[in-house]
This record gives sequence, structure tokens and C-alpha cells, in this order.
Amino acid sequence: MSPAALTSSISRVAVTLLSTTTLLSVTTAQQSTYPATPLVSKHYAYPTGIPYQVDTDTQLIRGGQSGYNQCNSTTEGQTSLCQTSFLNHLDDFCLWAPMKPNSTIADTEGEEVAWCTKPGRGTRLIPPGALQGVQYMKTPAYVQVVGFIDQTFINIQAGDYGGELDPHGADLRGNPLGGLVYSTGFDTDNSYTQVMEWHNFMGGNQFCFKACDPANPDASKFCQHVYDRIGCAYNAPNDAQNGTFEACVGENQDFPGIYTENGVVMTYSQPPESLGVISTLPYQPKVPASSSCTSYTSSLLYSALASSSATPTGSSASGSGNGPARVTGSAASGSGASAGASATGATSGAEALRVGLVSGALGLLFAVVFLS
Ligand SMILES: *[C@@H]1O[C@H](CO)[C@@H](O)[C@H](O)[C@H]1NC(C)=O
Ligand SMILES: *[C@@H]1O[C@H](CO)[C@@H](O)[C@H](O)[C@H]1NC(C)=O
Ligand SMILES: *[C@@H]1O[C@H](CO)[C@@H](O)[C@H](O)[C@H]1NC(C)=O
Repeated sequence: MSPAALTSSISRVAVTLLSTTTLLSVTTAQQSTYPATPLVSKHYAYPTGIPYQVDTDTQLIRGGQSGYNQCNSTTEGQTSLCQTSFLNHLDDFCLWAPMKPNSTIADTEGEEVAWCTKPGRGTRLIPPGALQGVQYMKTPAYVQVVGFIDQTFINIQAGDYGGELDPHGADLRGNPLGGLVYSTGFDTDNSYTQVMEWHNFMGGNQFCFKACDPANPDASKFCQHVYDRIGCAYNAPNDAQNGTFEACVGENQDFPGIYTENGVVMTYSQPPESLGVISTLPYQPKVPASSSCTSYTSSLLYSALASSSATPTGSSASGSGNGPARVTGSAASGSGASAGASATGATSGAEALRVGLVSGALGLLFAVVFLS
């Protein structure tokens, strides 16, 4: 969220809550909207340094953290409220999604839980068959998964165009509150790095999840969080294909919202929701070149799901098969034509408008893409 939007949304909350009280109270309320330490500045080593809950600011406007960060074999399974997530590789990542069936992302952004492809870390598991195509991309600055999913398998209401989860939020407590992300993707020795800047768009039966290397000075720009209404195509330009499961190495994207027009570097400014649906953008995001893509079959990649998620309780780490089973050889792919988020799923302008009006603080995820 932009500073201006942040200020306006914070003061809106304060005014709503305190409309009949004095100016002094409003000032106090504004101060007590923010935690002493923003989520993006809280560091914990995995797994030994993780507290039961990262967010203990229960007195603030959004209340307490709904789940927990200490996750283990007793929390594992489909009722887990684990809010510690991972983005390691094509066969080993989690997505943020609701606790309860038939929820919208906008209604539950503060309380999403981790749904993962591998057992062993105390989380829920993405049910077998939910994932329909996934592209894992490693670049110098980040690791990213983009894909296609039947979102009703992970409690997202059919037809919900969703929104963005990230470690910021108007009150700097993150969405979900206290949500942590780790990755083994940055260290050559496969150790866990806490990912301070990340963004995960969920909705429209698609997702993109980017985890930026904290060692990169531009991590917050690659994982920019202010463009919450323009979806994966603009925040994570990619050439992921439905039905294809592949792991690639690629070049960095441009920073979301930054583009070059006639040789001049421009910054896109996302209009506020009050101005209605975003129907045009002044630029087309550039899909970076990728190389060394290796394809896999999903049944081999996610075999742990078939044996585990049918039995939600008590399945701890199997310790089997770390490396994904390789199926086909490398296929270099240039800048493919279709961005992952430029899906064909038909949405009429009227539907998009309706979603835009009801989607609250998150705004509209794929409207731009569907309308273009
Ligand atoms: C397992 O995690 C739960 C939830 O965070 C926690 O209450 C419990 O103490 C943990 N158990 C162990 C043995 O660490
Ligand atoms: C999901 O919720 C919507 C809106 O409340 C409702 O119309 C729909 O019937 C529900 N779907 C399921 C599968 O429960
Ligand atoms: C992806 O492919 C599956 C299987 O063909 C299809 O059911 C689904 O609608 C597709 N997803 C999107 C977002 O197009």
C-alpha cells in the first residue's frame, strides 16, 4: 500500500472507531495502530528461534494473530493453524490460503494459514489434484512459483479473484498477521534463510509467490507490495503454462510498477479503489528470459500428497525423495507469449466490477488481465 493510501486507511479506521471522541483520543488510537516492531523487521532463525506467535500485539485494532508459528508433528494436518511458510523448490512450497472452506481472500487476508506440498513441517497439505501446473523460477534476486490451482481445494471460494498477501499491510503486521516465510533457495548449503520481503497473490484459480533474497539490496523492490490490484501478470510476469510443471533458471523481472517508455523510466501509480475497476494500464510488463527449464510429472513431484493428505493427522516427515523426479530434458524457453496470469477464464466486465466493489481493502486481483 502506498504511504498516502496507508495514511488514509489508518485514519479511516481511527475515525470510524473514535468518531465521537476527542482529537487527543484519535492521536492515541493512531499511535496504537502500529506494532512496536513491524513484521518485516522481525528476524528468527529456523527452526530453533521461532516463538509460538510472532505477533503478540493483541491490543491493536486487528486483534491477535489467529494461528501460530511454532509448527511440529502435533500441529500437522488439515486443521493446522501454522503460519510459517516455505518456498524451497518446485516440489516444495506453500501457499497462503484460508482456514475455513468457501472463504474469500479479502475476508480472511489477516488469518491465512500455510498449505504446503510436503509433509514434515506441521502445516496443512495442498490436496492431491489441486495443482494443475506450476513453474518454479530461480533468478539472481529471488525464487518464485507461479501456477494454476483448483482453489476450492484450499478453501478459497469458487470465483474469488482474491488478492495479495505480504509482510506489510496498512498496519505493518502483515497479511496474514505474523506470517513467516523461509527458503532453502538462496544458500548453497541448503540452509533455511528467513525471507523478509515476499508477495503471494492468490485467486482466479491461479497463484504467484515470490520470495526475494534478503542479501539483495533491492529485495523490497523486486517484492514490491503496493500494486495489490494488478495481479500476477504485473507483479510477477511469467510464462507459466497450465498443465506444465517445470523448474527454470531465469533473469530478474523489472521491479513491479517500473517500466520504460521511449527511453524514459516511468513509475506506475495504482489508482485508489474509489475510482473503480482498473481497465487499462499504460504498459505491458516484460516477461524475463528463462533458460534451463526442466519438466516433471506432477504425480511424481507431489507424491507425498497422495499418501499423506488423505490422512490429515500425524503424518510426519517421510524423509523420502528430496529431489524431484526428472521426466524430460531441458527445454530452453524464451519469453513465452502467455503470461501466467493472462488466463482465459472468462469474466465479464460486470462480474469484474462486482468483485471490485465488494473486495474491500485488497482490491481486484486479475481484473486488469481479464478485461484486457
Ligand atoms: C508444537 O507446536 C505447538 C503449537 O505451536 C506448541 O503448542 C507445542 O508446544 C509444540 N510442541 C513441541 C514439542 O514443541
Ligand atoms: C459459498 O459461499 C457463497 C456465499 O456465501 C454461497 O453462495 C455458496 O453457496 C457457498 N458455496 C459452498 C460450496 O458452500
Ligand atoms: C487449467 O487446466 C485445468 C485442466 O484442464 C482446467 O480445469 C482449469 O480451468 C485451467 N485453469 C485456468 C486458470 O485456466
